[in-house]
Amino acid sequence: MHIGILTGGGDCPGLNAVIRAVTLALLRDGASRVTGIERGFHGLLAGRSRPLAADDVAGILAVGGTILGTHNLCDPFHDREAGGADHSAQALAYARGLGLDGLVVIGGDGTMTIANRFQQLGLPVVGVPKTIDNDLPYTDRTFGFDSAVAVVAEALDRLSTTARSHGRVMIAETMGRYAGWIALEGGMAGGADAILIPESPFDVERVAELCRAREARGGVGGCTLICIAEGAHAQDEGLTVRAMLPNSPDPLRLGGVGQALQYRLQPLVKSEVRTTLLGHTQRGGSPTAYDRVLATRFGFEAAQLVKAGRFGRMVALQGEDVTSVALADVAGRSRPVPPDHPLLQAARGIGVSLGV
Ligand code: F6P
Repeated sequence: MHIGILTGGGDCPGLNAVIRAVTLALLRDGASRVTGIERGFHGLLAGRSRPLAADDVAGILAVGGTILGTHNLCDPFHDREAGGADHSAQALAYARGLGLDGLVVIGGDGTMTIANRFQQLGLPVVGVPKTIDNDLPYTDRTFGFDSAVAVVAEALDRLSTTARSHGRVMIAETMGRYAGWIALEGGMAGGADAILIPESPFDVERVAELCRAREARGGVGGCTLICIAEGAHAQDEGLTVRAMLPNSPDPLRLGGVGQALQYRLQPLVKSEVRTTLLGHTQRGGSPTAYDRVLATRFGFEAAQLVKAGRFGRMVALQGEDVTSVALADVAGRSRPVPPDHPLLQAARGIGVSLGV
């Protein structure tokens, strides 16, 4: 069997661990070949690929990013740089020219949607769910999420000591797009006093009340640590958009809501309010041990699906088990934090404000 492998969308810690596991698991039987497609689907259009041998994936388990490169502006079915032209036939022809029997596609929701379209066109695909946002349906976790949460937790630890020393309100803004998973789990891990997520629009006055109540305590307990997701918004405001990228399949780039909250909060409280934008620090660097193991399990499972000819599936974690779901069920869907999620209940139960 000759299998292509590509990484699409934004990068995240653990991509190399999947590439390594898929390659090693497929090469073990001596009957398979693996080709890495460079820079996501763009590589299928630009004709960029290279063979992957065991030596090519040696020493990459703990390395962040992706050795194949990625691209989050490329949709062969709607090439925006070419006025929205459909270049999928060109991509398909390149895959056929390489003699690929199938493709392992590692990516988030946009990448899975494109992967599903290739599957429908007759290029067999197995998907592997990647994103720090943890917002893909039918999988309890995506790899990369745990690493992002670890960055947020460490940042909050650091912000809390300086917040206490100065009696400040410290706002930390996380990534996560339209889902609050990173802010919720990172905020809980870092002991945030308030966690603001997109699924539950917040009331600025309620957040100010919390800060004032903490100020009234004085001393080192008088500071407030707020963890806010980039997709969160006040009840009387819309999303805070950092940039519009018209050539992207996902043109809205969020960011800046932490700063916006700072401006609204400052006149309502006595302490100084400061904001830290965690940004791409959450996506870079080495994956956590948990993500290395999850990514390896996902890569191994993807190889098993390929060997069994079970294409049109996406690997998934359900409870403790790595299983798979239909790619068509995942395409075009996302997974917000449900209002009755146990972690939200725990947050409320220990007095963490959700700003409502
Ligand atoms: O989907 C992953 C993610 O990091 C989001 O959390 C964030 O909104 C987006 O990608 C940022 O994308 P870019 O790096 O293209 O600005």
